[in-house]
Amino acid sequence: MAVSRRQFLQLCGLCAAGVVGTNLAGCGGESASSVVPNTEKPVVFFNRQPSNGSTGEIDMTTLTFNKDTYYVGFDAQQGGELEGQMVVDYIKNHIDTVDRNGDGTIGYILAIGDVGHNDSIARTRGVRKALGTAVEENGVINTGATGTNADGSSDIVQDGEIEVAGKTFKIRELASQEMKTTAGATWDAPTAGNAIGTWAASFGDQIDLVVSNNDGMGMAMFNSWSYSNHVPTFGYDANADAVAAIPNGYGGTISQNPAVQAYINLRLSRNSLDGVDFQTGISTPDDKGNIISPDDYRYSEDERSFYAMNLMVNADTYENFLDSTKLYETAQTALDESTSPTKKVWASIYNAADNFLSSTYRPLLQKYQELMNFKIDFVAGDGQSESSVSNRLANPSDYDAFAINMVKTDNGASYTGILRQ
Ligand code: BGC
Repeated sequence: MAVSRRQFLQLCGLCAAGVVGTNLAGCGGESASSVVPNTEKPVVFFNRQPSNGSTGEIDMTTLTFNKDTYYVGFDAQQGGELEGQMVVDYIKNHIDTVDRNGDGTIGYILAIGDVGHNDSIARTRGVRKALGTAVEENGVINTGATGTNADGSSDIVQDGEIEVAGKTFKIRELASQEMKTTAGATWDAPTAGNAIGTWAASFGDQIDLVVSNNDGMGMAMFNSWSYSNHVPTFGYDANADAVAAIPNGYGGTISQNPAVQAYINLRLSRNSLDGVDFQTGISTPDDKGNIISPDDYRYSEDERSFYAMNLMVNADTYENFLDSTKLYETAQTALDESTSPTKKVWASIYNAADNFLSSTYRPLLQKYQELMNFKIDFVAGDGQSESSVSNRLANPSDYDAFAINMVKTDNGASYTGILRQ
């Protein structure tokens, strides 16, 4: 007989109170419940929102898999706009030195992570919009890669203009490329490190700024070329190495507030497993006082998604961001084992080589698992084939909850399908 989650929690209560003589598998302890059907366990997608890779439309079929299914990410549009604003602010504050060859054109190159990933699209859009290089079709900014655009004739971007202190400069996207390996792994840092070499050979001192959809690619370009050529380079994620490079010439980055994301990610499963309101310890304090400020996230009920708000990290602010795996200030008190007994979580990382996920997000999940009484088993994929991750969800009945980072945003059904079997 299948037992619903509510019945199960009631039985656990009776069992703890000694009313039920025999111990139920899954009532506390470390082993997962074989009593709760996989279809009723909490499922939290993170970092890659279930969505259509071409249109960006959110995949609500996946996100309504059960009442405890959510996406936790960050506000991609606000973050993309912030990255664009950061680059414009830099130009304005360094107008005397930014045009390296003094030709009146500020040339930049752009490293694109994944043309079908909402976060990547939002950053490309935000940067082009702020710099005036965006081309709109039917009200939508083209976020494709230009290849090279030495003479400004690309249809994908246009030349922008900026006026500072009575002087007008042209802004040109000299080149952009999706940083993808031949095997198909996206956001690939070594590919970006190679691309900057090729671009520098053809554009030389026409390149005044280097802009990237993330710090993994940004730092690969900075280390192989921009640092020694004193060209400001901008990324996203506030990875520790990128923040530390700001005093050495890295232009800036954006923090996607990863502690908020990692906390909410695990907290949603915790709340479901403890049978308390899903917002406990998020919008309302738990009995330890853990809470997240409404300034740092927003929740969209229609999209079943929590979005952390982004923060600008530049020469003025970087000192506050040097520790990229710092826990959220008002959410770091451990929960009691008596009310939040140890449970097992299966968590995936789409690509073992992704800098942000491996150097920032995963360490945060590891810190939070201790505070929330979770034991997380991580699997990390190859970044190109969904099966490198989904095939490793072989025994879902061994787990109480799932934290899923997919290889492709379109593939939510690969996971919910396994949980339905
Ligand atoms: C991060 C990237 C990461 C990508 C992977 C983005 O949100 O900013 O650094 O490579 O997610 O999905």
